[in-house]
Amino acid sequence: MRMYDVIEKKRDGKELEYEEISFFIKNYCEEKIPDYQVSALLMAIFLNGMSERETAELTEIMANSGDVIDLSVIDGIKVDKHSTGGVGDKTTLILGPIVAACGIPVAKMSGRGLGHTGGTIDKLESIPGFKTALTKQEFIDQVMKIGISIAGQTGNLAPADKKLYALRDVTATVNSLPLIASSIMSKKIACGADRIVLDVKTGSGALMKTVEKSVELARTMVKIGNDLGRKTVAVVTDMDIPLGNAIGNSLEVIEAIETLKGNGPKDLEEVSLALAAKMLELAEIGDKENCKNRVREVIDNRKALNKLAELIESQGGNPDVIENYDLFKKAKYVYELTSGQDCYIERVKTDSLGVAAMILGAGRETKESIIDYSAGIKLNKKTGMSIKKGELIATLYTNDSERINAALETLKSSLVLSQSLEPQRPLIISSID
Ligand code: URA
Repeated sequence: MRMYDVIEKKRDGKELEYEEISFFIKNYCEEKIPDYQVSALLMAIFLNGMSERETAELTEIMANSGDVIDLSVIDGIKVDKHSTGGVGDKTTLILGPIVAACGIPVAKMSGRGLGHTGGTIDKLESIPGFKTALTKQEFIDQVMKIGISIAGQTGNLAPADKKLYALRDVTATVNSLPLIASSIMSKKIACGADRIVLDVKTGSGALMKTVEKSVELARTMVKIGNDLGRKTVAVVTDMDIPLGNAIGNSLEVIEAIETLKGNGPKDLEEVSLALAAKMLELAEIGDKENCKNRVREVIDNRKALNKLAELIESQGGNPDVIENYDLFKKAKYVYELTSGQDCYIERVKTDSLGVAAMILGAGRETKESIIDYSAGIKLNKKTGMSIKKGELIATLYTNDSERINAALETLKSSLVLSQSLEPQRPLIISSID
């Protein structure tokens, strides 16, 4: 088989066979096919798409290109959750302890943030002492002992995706539905869970900007999961507005803790609890209403909060952060943005808001950037709210005073102000079961 022929076939809009997909993935991983040929194939896929069969096969082949975690030693149905990424999305920190407190094992491998989106692993590392690099054995042992573990992905999980993603990033081929779906699902399949809940974000802060595209991505991933024997469901949720009020690592951990104490922002609580209930439903602990009640119960009796403390302690962190937020590193510089007029926030360009937090030090511009865990933004006002002249809109936190002006300008440009209000769309836009 020749790579030239595979490229030519896809260029001409034909379907690739399993053997052809397998040939290019295997040989690319073994560095027997150069980047320029794979780039050409990626562009042909970007332009001509892939059928459902091709996408499912690409996913399976990428999932098997490295380590596949075997969770079968852990009793019970293992349910994973994945978010396609957004701004202020700290749901894993909330739903992980909730689900574990309900007796369902949570063996979760998460990623880091890049660009305007955050990552669970960075957030957890803002907890003093918290260790996210666990061996496979430590990861599994901890789930068996306390029912939950959240770790960084092992280096050899779906290595084909790692190579392809890096190439897509520099060849303008990231935004392709079959490539996104196979990239995400290959890692989920390799993580070993029996069932998967997907949170597909939609809007200005998301990978997919329109509901139609987001629903299409959700449907594609649900089909791949089910075809590969992992029962998968998805919800499409709004990312035209940041989730919760905090953006930035330790700020988000504190907001997640507050949510587990029952004091979190309503939007964050709604999405986190809905996803947790879906995970319980997939784990077959009861019907929809039952699962919702169980979720509420472990928040009210503080079992979920205690489970978070157990998780932190077990992974080397200081569990006292739960009651004492002063244990988190504090930013040296704090700046308050107030309003110069009476108005409404009609819309927030959520991706720009994420960029403003990144400029303050909360995110990575490149893979090598060092994160400032205490940096970020706390919103006092969001879409759909009225503001009086002089009222606080947001507080900015950083350790580098030179970053404040640029972040402030970006933050201001992300707010679309008006004199009247449009009705807001619901947070949970669609469910695909
Ligand atoms: N996240 C992934 O893991 N892969 C993509 O292609 C896009 C988002």
